[in-house]
Amino acid sequence: MTKLLILTDIHLTEATQTIIGLDPLARFQEVLSAATRDHPDAAAVLLMGDLTHHGTPRQYARLQSVLAACPLPIHLMIGNHDRRAAFRTAFPDAPVTDSGFVQQVVDFPHHRLILLDSHDGGDHPDGFRSGILCPDRLAWLDKALAGCGTRMPVVACHHPPFCVGLPGMDAIRLQNEDALLSRLADHGAYLLFGHIHRTISGATKGVGWSSFKSPCHQAPIDFVTPDSGLSIDEPGGYGIALLDRPAQITIHHVDVGLETTTMSDRTSQ
Ligand SMILES: [Fe+2]
Repeated sequence: MTKLLILTDIHLTEATQTIIGLDPLARFQEVLSAATRDHPDAAAVLLMGDLTHHGTPRQYARLQSVLAACPLPIHLMIGNHDRRAAFRTAFPDAPVTDSGFVQQVVDFPHHRLILLDSHDGGDHPDGFRSGILCPDRLAWLDKALAGCGTRMPVVACHHPPFCVGLPGMDAIRLQNEDALLSRLADHGAYLLFGHIHRTISGATKGVGWSSFKSPCHQAPIDFVTPDSGLSIDEPGGYGIALLDRPAQITIHHVDVGLETTTMSDRTSQ
């Protein structure tokens, strides 16, 4: 079974900082440990951006210290809370395009995983920013999609290219949404994204998609308030993409920290 473990929106802070009272590093360690303990046979771990909260060298150094103990290959993306230059300094071996964007292709037997860099290039103290895919990044994506062959394209982008019904997050989605959506639709690609901090799935203009919760703080179900900073303390978690069948991707979501005793009740299903 080909499994990909998916974590997103780690938001590592300085050692003394918490987010709504939660310690992002402790939460990340708990979720990553649970994922790799329960799925040691996974092919890799994908981290889909917002690796840090402010993109500082010290925060990336804290991330390095956790990842050094991870027993599986790791593929890294950046999100709006990251800073591309600081990331590249901290992770000089992370693949980038010829233009320096944090994008790469990872091929599996039946799937091509295409990782995108949707950071808008700004240096934003608060991090609450929409995303963009410039012509350079889109041209790279076109080549990656064209080279899929018989593999199913699975594209990961930190920012979603559409609204999901949460006004605060919808305001900071991918700006040039049609440029990405049309390419995904043309190639039958499946879309993975983070940014929202919530487990959501759906389909837009023929493109199926899944988003994943953070190990740390989640977005509340609030379909009214236009505040990008709303957060709630719900269990952290990760995703598992099963990639063992041609032309199919299956997504599972795991909450961490809940009761995990398995019981059998044949009357309830
Ligand atoms: Fe985030």
